[in-house]
Amino acid sequence: MICRPKPRWMPLFAAVAAAGLAAACDRPPSVELKEWSASDHDGEKKADGTTKQGERSSDAGGAPALVAITWQNQCAACHGAQGKGDGPQGPMFKAPDLGRADWQAKVTDEEIAATIANGKGRMPKFDLAPEIVQGLVARVRSFRAP
Ligand code: HEC
Repeated sequence: MICRPKPRWMPLFAAVAAAGLAAACDRPPSVELKEWSASDHDGEKKADGTTKQGERSSDAGGAPALVAITWQNQCAACHGAQGKGDGPQGPMFKAPDLGRADWQAKVTDEEIAATIANGKGRMPKFDLAPEIVQGLVARVRSFRAP
């Protein structure tokens, strides 16, 4: 490269090469991105769907990862990771232990969903997609003390 016989051509060559590279750079990444996310999604959905459905298909209600994140971000601050009411804000709001067998026995799934949608006492209401609410209801059920 350094020993090119006609240095005059170099700038032109470089410019053309750069333009070509730029064009090449413009295309493949976007194509690659599309291919990546698409196959990623399909692969993950299939993998996740099969494993998680095997584990808790009856009550997960779909979007298990989103449900886990939602619980962590929106609920655990008061209710704690395991629903015991021991989140950092649990004492301040007097968040109840959601695992209590007596409460679990008398509350219906619809009532839990309604609490999430409408709030209750000092618990704020949450505007969440129906499948997330269903997943949260399932999660609340999973806290049930033996
Ligand atoms: C700011 C604190 C706070 C947050 C955040 C919070 N809660 Fe609560 N939650 C409470 C309190 C306080 C109660 C008790 C309400 C009462 O009985 O007056 C409660 C009660 C409940 C109950 C029991 C209702 C019943 O029937 O007695 C459920 C189920 C529940 N929360 C689920 C959730 C879910 C799911 C989330 C996240 C989407 C959430 N909570 C977020 C404070 C919170």
